[in-house]
Amino acid sequence: MDRGHVLHPWTNFGAFEREGALVIARGQGAWLWDTDGRRYFDAVGGLWCTNIGLGRRDMAEAIAAQAERLAFSNTFVDMTNEPSARLAAKLAALAPGDLNRVHFTTGGSTAVDSAARMVAFYQSCMGRPGKMDLVARDFSYHGSTYLSQSIGKRPGDRVAEFRYKETGIHHLTAPNPYRRPAGTSEAEFCDLLVAEFEALIARVGADRIGGFFAEPIQASGGVIVPPEGYLRRMWELCQRHDILFVADEVVTAFGRLGHWFASLDEFGVQPDMICVAKGLTSGYVPMGAVIFSDRLWEAMAAKGERWFTSGFTYAGHPVAARPR
Ligand SMILES: Cc1ncc(COP(=O)(O)O)c(C=O)c1O
Repeated sequence: MDRGHVLHPWTNFGAFEREGALVIARGQGAWLWDTDGRRYFDAVGGLWCTNIGLGRRDMAEAIAAQAERLAFSNTFVDMTNEPSARLAAKLAALAPGDLNRVHFTTGGSTAVDSAARMVAFYQSCMGRPGKMDLVARDFSYHGSTYLSQSIGKRPGDRVAEFRYKETGIHHLTAPNPYRRPAGTSEAEFCDLLVAEFEALIARVGADRIGGFFAEPIQASGGVIVPPEGYLRRMWELCQRHDILFVADEVVTAFGRLGHWFASLDEFGVQPDMICVAKGLTSGYVPMGAVIFSDRLWEAMAAKGERWFTSGFTYAGHPVAARPR
């Protein structure tokens, strides 16, 4: 049935038509079983998302209880539900600094997409409507919507059959010490990367660049741990030029690196926005979010009557937000 009916994410048509897909039937902790009873160690944690492990009864019970009590309630405009409000407050308490505001989404791609819109919205509210170009890095993965895939740039993801947003998005060299130019030390490589960003700002204009998107550790681009001090120096450059620093922590948050969030605890960076998904629900149900600063909220809310016309039916889904 799968081979006859399903188009999978990232399908290779030839291999799929020949071989079909591996059917997983059951999961417990970090172990999976297929329909023939063969057991596998789930080293990737689903897709970097099953942070607390599979098969937990407390999760199943919380999900069932919430599905029975209130399976859905929309959070558009002036409606809300209790689990999503409580989760927002919890995320605000856990997130670094003044990241006290939460925009819920359906996953990581829609979080990145929303963050990109918020860059433009915020800069416009600050009287800088032309400051909406985005900067990201080669080998980054930020999702699969039109905009998030245009921000990302993993080799192989870009195929001729699709179109991507080309204007207004700039890509810098991936901070991969293993691929640094021959003869340079890691510290010199870091200097080159920062200088490349400085040169881009000089060329494009600080009045045009609104946001910088970065996975603290580039995950599916190769688990790229940047050189010492790189992320902090890129953040300092952003601050100097009023460029919003958007940390894509879809993979790195919720314990993957031993902290709730990696940006500040691991890299000494206080982002303006953090995109999360995956470990947020440990993959039990879909959910994502942009956690953003009071400063951004205040700018966007100033003048009172503006509309933020962006969001998704399942934003703040009560089953996904429900605590265990
Ligand atoms: C760093 C990063 N950002 C965004 C995404 C997109 O998340 P989703 O697949 O939930 O839309 C991913 C997914 O792997 C990711 O690794």
